[in-house]
Amino acid sequence: GVPGAPGAPAAMAVFVTRRIPAEGLRALSQAGGCRVQLWDSEEPVPRAELLAGVAGKRGLLCLLSDRIDREVLDAAGPSLKVISTMSVGFDHLALDEIKKRGIRVGYTPDVLTDATAELSVALLLATCRRLPEALEQVKSGGWTTWKPLWMCGYGLSDSTVGIIGLGRIGQAVARRLKPFGVKKFLYTGSRPKPENAAEFEAEFVPLAKLAEESDFVVVTCALTPATQGMCNKEFFGRMKKTAVFVNTSRGAVVNQDDLYDALAQGKIAAAGLDVTTPEPLPTEHPLLSLKNCVVLPHIGSATYATRSTMAVLAADNLLAGLRGEPMPHELVL
Ligand code: NDP
Ligand code: DGY
Repeated sequence: GVPGAPGAPAAMAVFVTRRIPAEGLRALSQAGGCRVQLWDSEEPVPRAELLAGVAGKRGLLCLLSDRIDREVLDAAGPSLKVISTMSVGFDHLALDEIKKRGIRVGYTPDVLTDATAELSVALLLATCRRLPEALEQVKSGGWTTWKPLWMCGYGLSDSTVGIIGLGRIGQAVARRLKPFGVKKFLYTGSRPKPENAAEFEAEFVPLAKLAEESDFVVVTCALTPATQGMCNKEFFGRMKKTAVFVNTSRGAVVNQDDLYDALAQGKIAAAGLDVTTPEPLPTEHPLLSLKNCVVLPHIGSATYATRSTMAVLAADNLLAGLRGEPMPHELVL
């Protein structure tokens, strides 16, 4: 573990489930009165080590790959007062159990919005203009000459873009796509958000209409019981044959068997996924056999600067929670 201030009281003991960027660890180790036990690895902490590591701790700094459920909370015991996740998504946290126990939660909104929106646009363009397939052709000798219809895809000019979840990242995606000549933005969510939509003159529509009218569907919502499996056979069946589907939210928003069928049967043109179920996606997964499916390994927020900022924010949230102070970003339960 990383040593804290000498003589730090046991009450400020924290467990950190991964070797997070150095700036975050530094913030923790420099904080007076904080004693850090670190799972000092690039790889996820094994479940048994997580259960042992949280026992008797006051704080827990975790990642989206750690499932924090009743078993973990029981293993931690009543000493646990603060959970800080180095992520904006919190579907890996059993919030009802956490709330019952009066534990405070910190998370990392805003600081990763630009990086994730940028990756969403990169994935959309890579998918609709078939970049991975085209690169493969260059390397394999498939590029014989310039051909009028070879490697054609779909562009954003004059298109309709449908955004599922016009939150922080959804708006940042729309802002970046608008200059490509998008004609119309549609969005869906639990209710209309005129304050989010005004900048893009985006129209609030039911999910079915968004599927039917969009040339590009971008999923940027949170994973909740309502959004789980929302992009299913019926949804893909309503989409245009020429439409492109992009998901940078959580894999479980998509029914992957239904997506496979839609792609394999040409019901939609292509899909770009930064998130899957499970993660990692097994290399023999049927989706990886399709030319019209571009899969990335959950790299939405993966810039050095963003990950460093996320780590510092996660550390600052944890420290503020331990001290009983307002957190920079607390998830209000
Ligand atoms: P926000 O809370 O700002 O946005 C979430 C959006 O989800 C809201 O606009 C909300 O709309 C929408 N939503 C909730 N329920 C539904 C529903 N039933 N149907 C449609 N939309 C719904 O979060 P962020 O934009 O900051 O992040 C969004 C998600 O992106 C995160 O939860 C995370 O899972 C994922 N993410 C992925 C990353 C990656 O690396 N690929 C990086 C960062 C985040 P409303 O309020 O109207 O319900
Ligand atoms: C999150 O923060 O929820 C992303 O999935 C990773 O940055």
